[in-house]
Amino acid sequence: MSTVREALVDLGAIARNVATMRAAAGDTPVMVVVKANGYGHGAVPSARAALAGGAEWLGVVDIAEGLELRAAGIRAPILAWLHDPAADYAVAVENNIDVGINYVAQLEQVAAIAGRANVHIKVDTGLSRNGVPEHEWGLIFAAAADHERAGRLAVRGVFSHLANAGEAEDAQQVAGFQRALEAATAVGLTPHVTHLAATAGAIRVPAARFGLVRIGIGAYGLSPFADEQPRELGLTPAMQLSAIIASVKRIPAGSGVSYGYDYVTERETTLALVPLGYADGVPRHASGTGPVSINGVTYRVSGRVAMDQIVIDVGDAPVSIGDRAILFGDPISGVPSAADWAQAAGTINYEIVACIGSRVTRRYLE
Ligand SMILES: Cc1ncc(COP(=O)(O)O)c(C=O)c1O
Repeated sequence: MSTVREALVDLGAIARNVATMRAAAGDTPVMVVVKANGYGHGAVPSARAALAGGAEWLGVVDIAEGLELRAAGIRAPILAWLHDPAADYAVAVENNIDVGINYVAQLEQVAAIAGRANVHIKVDTGLSRNGVPEHEWGLIFAAAADHERAGRLAVRGVFSHLANAGEAEDAQQVAGFQRALEAATAVGLTPHVTHLAATAGAIRVPAARFGLVRIGIGAYGLSPFADEQPRELGLTPAMQLSAIIASVKRIPAGSGVSYGYDYVTERETTLALVPLGYADGVPRHASGTGPVSINGVTYRVSGRVAMDQIVIDVGDAPVSIGDRAILFGDPISGVPSAADWAQAAGTINYEIVACIGSRVTRRYLE
């Protein structure tokens, strides 16, 4: 079966990537991050593949994402780490979803619910996003220890996130995280899941591995580094984005193509219409530059990316309606990569895969 707009996801690749990442992280246990619909790959199938590849934990952003995994029958430990003020922590507890804690009032909210929540306290070691700032570590750990002794919650973990700002900055964050762990231990907490590194840190910052690494992009076979491609890391890109060409026509020289006529044909040529546009996640910033492979030849998007379609000038190549245009996949097979699209659009590979829209059918290779 093939579909008109298709993100073909190789689940075996995800499983192998997880095993590769665990080995690259010195055999540190792995949490695979399946937030944002598994970076666009599908949360539930990606989670199952990750567990098959040896992941011990799954990471999501909010409780709803965790519930989707539980509804599919996934029993592995799940951590959800970013909550809105009205989040239903009781539902998290009922469904055995660990709760990331970002500030003192949130700890109190979680302590006040009927069940005994498993929490991971997030400390800010320098990213300045969510997480408790250092001047409040003593306060939150002391409060958490009180609640734990009273049986209101259990502090299963302490975690933080790297800013990937450079070697010295990573080292500072590692040192900060160690101070946080000492502060937790000093008030009698015994968090047994300590985690700081994501894919980049897991590979390049051994001191950041602690007891668990949270692997997102690497599990999907993409590189977090501009200077190292997936293959050099032993990873296989899991997603191939393609569509069936919907129309082909011959047009004369001097024809303007797509909105604004940013592209004008230099000679009589063939245009192929690919039914993927910015509503499907094809970045409009890649107008005129995004690479597309058709029948083994890579072309550039001709003119602007529209909401539902892109046009490719294929010259005199024999391209037909029904041929498949591949936007990105595993470059080993000669097609463009998600990184190529990221470069064309001035963004990162994360955004290319995570933004694939809902009109694109996810098809899975088991
Ligand atoms: C808290 C946290 N941990 C881990 C990850 C996974 O990062 P990566 O995809 O770089 O492995 C993310 C993703 O942004 C995150 O927000």
